[in-house]
Amino acid sequence: MNSAAFPHVRPRRLRFNPLVRDMVRETALDVRDFILPLFVRPGSGIRNEISSMPGNFQLSVDRLIDEVGAAKDLGIRGFILFGIPTFKDATGSSALQDDGIVQQALRALKQTFKNEVVLLTDECFCEYTDHGHCGPLCEVQGRMDVDNDATLEILAKQCVSHAMAGADIVAPSGMMDGMVQAIRAGLDEAGFEQIPIMSYAAKYASGFYGPFREAAESPPQFGDRGSYQMDPANGDEAEREVELDLAEGADFIMVKPALSYLDIIRRVKQRFHVPVAAYNVSGEYAMVKAAGAKGWIDERRVTLEILTSIKRAGADLILTYHCRDAAKWLKQG
Ligand code: PBG
Repeated sequence: MNSAAFPHVRPRRLRFNPLVRDMVRETALDVRDFILPLFVRPGSGIRNEISSMPGNFQLSVDRLIDEVGAAKDLGIRGFILFGIPTFKDATGSSALQDDGIVQQALRALKQTFKNEVVLLTDECFCEYTDHGHCGPLCEVQGRMDVDNDATLEILAKQCVSHAMAGADIVAPSGMMDGMVQAIRAGLDEAGFEQIPIMSYAAKYASGFYGPFREAAESPPQFGDRGSYQMDPANGDEAEREVELDLAEGADFIMVKPALSYLDIIRRVKQRFHVPVAAYNVSGEYAMVKAAGAKGWIDERRVTLEILTSIKRAGADLILTYHCRDAAKWLKQG
């Protein structure tokens, strides 16, 4: 090693000429890796900006179509839909309606854009339950908690309903044990063997979801999600979750949030060699937007740096609210 050290070796040589620097760059962002989260609500002509997520909106189906059209023109192909339903109840039954809000949105988007877009659906009940938890509740040792196995049954139904309406990929986010297996069985039984599952396999109980809960109107009405989402302190457990989900038939693995969990993205990619998606969540977005608006950071530079770091860590796909800006900046070069 000594003979190959300074002054023979000068790493700065590769940084001197900007074109050479370009040649040796290891990671490149590509708009095809982006997935844009969108929030759809009943009504028409609605485009309500989410105050903590500037540039993102709750949209009625007609305006959703405009939004997807505009994003598509920027090269974005992947969209994940979240629904704000007309009513909420204890079991989240509005999630299963054939004419539910996400189902309506899927049909309208498929009719308009055919196979030029990839439509993903978040599969969970927190937006549909009146208590805001990710499935129906039951009492466990004197405490109310999400009923895991009862949730599995309706999760499979929700996925089938979304597949029937046009979903290309289903993405369960509730962190229920056995969710991938239950969904795979439900989809296959309904003839949807070809629909992939993107499992939110390593999803942490995170403070970074704050703005999303305003966007999706889904905060838990009591307690928190600590009994189903993962403890931010755990890494080995993430590998275990991923291993189980792959054994149950997951096609993609998601790690969420992204930025405080780059080590988890790296571990998952290195160990399992499967497509990995990272969710650059609402709070991560809000911090950049807020500091950018105050002039404390250069928003463009920081955003591209963050997205590059997520990809460098090992993510193949990035779900991010920065999609549109990033796509524009990448086009400008
Ligand atoms: C649950 C879900 C959440 C997010 C995506 N799916 C919220 C939660 O678990 O509380 C958060 C996404 C974000 O913060 O951008 N359906």
